[in-house]
Amino acid sequence: MAVNRTVLRPFVKWAGGKGQLLTALDWLLPPRFSAYHEPFLGGGAVFFHLRPSAAYLSDQNEELINTYRIVRDQVEELLISLGKHKNERDYYYSIRALDPQDLDRVERASRFIYLNKTCYNGLYRVNKQGRFNVPFGKYKNPRYAEADNLRAASAALQHARVLEVADFSQTLKRAGAGDFVYLDPPYVPVSETARFTSYTADSFGLRDQIRLHHVFTQLDQMGCYVMLSNSDTPTIRELYRGFRCETVKAHRFINSNKHRRGHITEVVVVNYESSGSAQCNRADHRRQGKTHAPRSR
Ligand SMILES: C[S@@+](CC[C@H](N)C(=O)[O-])C[C@H]1O[C@@H](n2cnc3c(N)ncnc32)[C@H](O)[C@@H]1O
Repeated sequence: MAVNRTVLRPFVKWAGGKGQLLTALDWLLPPRFSAYHEPFLGGGAVFFHLRPSAAYLSDQNEELINTYRIVRDQVEELLISLGKHKNERDYYYSIRALDPQDLDRVERASRFIYLNKTCYNGLYRVNKQGRFNVPFGKYKNPRYAEADNLRAASAALQHARVLEVADFSQTLKRAGAGDFVYLDPPYVPVSETARFTSYTADSFGLRDQIRLHHVFTQLDQMGCYVMLSNSDTPTIRELYRGFRCETVKAHRFINSNKHRRGHITEVVVVNYESSGSAQCNRADHRRQGKTHAPRSR
């Protein structure tokens, strides 16, 4: 598959975004594949990096997927709407207070990008009623109307055959032998206090991680190239025992204080051989050709 490498950034900030890990992941990607699938799309850092010519993209977040569709289909209308926003505290809260269901699809997408770029830390958080509740971020010059990047994103998204709100398991319906599936779920918590049981009913818990492991093994058996990112925890190492596990170092916020950053180790699980090694953080690594077909287990 031909891959266009013009630089293109995600148009939203997203928790767990893979922007800073692209060099490390690049080294572990299969060098060629048929269609590309990303069912935990988020900010889409890997999709925008690869710019594949056939993609199946999905996420469970409805507001996010509406925004992707508008960027793909109505980017000029979106840019006009984004240009009307103001980086002012009272204005921010008036936009935050709007119910997205009362807006048309372009205004909804425009509100989503505006709030994402002007809210505290680019967080996406909703209350029990599903209403966005992140405070104003006080940024001097938030870039919510980046015309060139949004137009480039729109061009890349023309190759999305599917862009839908869906559970990750739907990937099984669409993927075929020779396709590449990148799985980047909400991570298994690393701290001792953050246990699965402390999650709310609709968050991503241990049961979902086990469901995801089933999907991974089924995709493997179907002959897909599969790559999964997660935290480096005993749970993940145990679940994916038998598959190739590489570690990468990510520079992340380690708690809610934006000044407290730290390096944490993440795991990348793949079901194929490639020329990558555990030292996959080096900036000068290029993808090289030595990748074999996925194993049949
Ligand atoms: C770690 S983020 C993905 C980050 C993305 N790779 C990036 O570079 O920005 C995980 C994503 O999974 C989505 N998600 C959570 N549960 C899901 C589910 N059951 N099925 C599909 N997507 C889900 C969340 O909405 C979130 O966007």
